[in-house]
Amino acid sequence: MKKIVIIDGGPRKNMNTGAMIEAFTRGVKSVDGEIDVQRIFLYDIDYKGCYSCLACKLKNSRFRDVCAYKDGLTETLRETAYADGVVFASPIFYSRVTGQLESFIERLTFPWLSYDDYSMHPPKRIPAAIIYTMNDISAERRNLQSLEMLLGGFYGERPERIAACNTYQVKDYDRYAMASFPKESKERWRAEHWEHDLQQAYEAGQRMAAKIL
Ligand SMILES: Cc1cc2nc3c(=O)[nH]c(=O)nc-3n(C[C@H](O)[C@H](O)[C@H](O)COP(=O)(O)O)c2cc1C
Repeated sequence: MKKIVIIDGGPRKNMNTGAMIEAFTRGVKSVDGEIDVQRIFLYDIDYKGCYSCLACKLKNSRFRDVCAYKDGLTETLRETAYADGVVFASPIFYSRVTGQLESFIERLTFPWLSYDDYSMHPPKRIPAAIIYTMNDISAERRNLQSLEMLLGGFYGERPERIAACNTYQVKDYDRYAMASFPKESKERWRAEHWEHDLQQAYEAGQRMAAKIL
């Protein structure tokens, strides 16, 4: 059975990032209901970023596929490394993906990087996608591009980017001191974009399903 792992780096399970992940999942399932889609909540797991133990860089290391350090992340790292497709999803915090997701990506990919010649060897080269949600009205940012380039180096192809911009950060703007985000302009943007963003996620799910079958 084919498997797609969705690494959810956001703290809120049922807000914007969650809705985009659900739309992506529906897209996958519309192509083939048998594909196993597993969403993993990084905020529920007890772990840290790379410990710099360098066990993966020992000569003839056994830890070139999955990080040697054993903690709450080990099983997820293994599942992600051997999946047939992977999605990284995150709200944008201070112009980057969350620290949780950054730490996860260190742990996932550092064993795959050779310090002999900087070549990149994941155990499987699989289709990858990346979902962002944010307040900004554009996802064009150098640090997001550099993350995508890094992942593209490992997977052989840049991850497909799906972004939902200018999202509702809260459901009721009247209750919050958020004068930078006038309710009316949020509403207007949402009416024009949100369904389209979900549709983009849905279609990206369909494309990934078609690729892995
Ligand atoms: C700590 C923090 C920092 C944020 N920084 C940014 C930012 O730099 N740029 C941006 O566009 N949105 C920023 N946001 C807004 C979130 O990215 C946005 O509301 C996102 O859609 C939230 O996703 P969620 O609804 O799935 O939790 C920030 C939110 C938080 C809580």
